[in-house]
Amino acid sequence: MRGLKIANKTPYEAELEGGRKYAWCCYGLSAMQPFCDDSHSATDLEDDDIYR
Ligand code: FES
Repeated sequence: MRGLKIANKTPYEAELEGGRKYAWCCYGLSAMQPFCDDSHSATDLEDDDIYR
């Protein structure tokens, strides 16, 4: 199993900028959890790998 980065196991607040688009990290690789930092692009992960 990959070493997934979990943003948090409980709800928490995140600072957001108005007008900016955010993507939720679904591969657990981003260094800026809970949002995607495009780290997944450097892997061969596919959509079926989400949550495994
Ligand atoms: S979806 Fe997590 S790094 Fe892009």
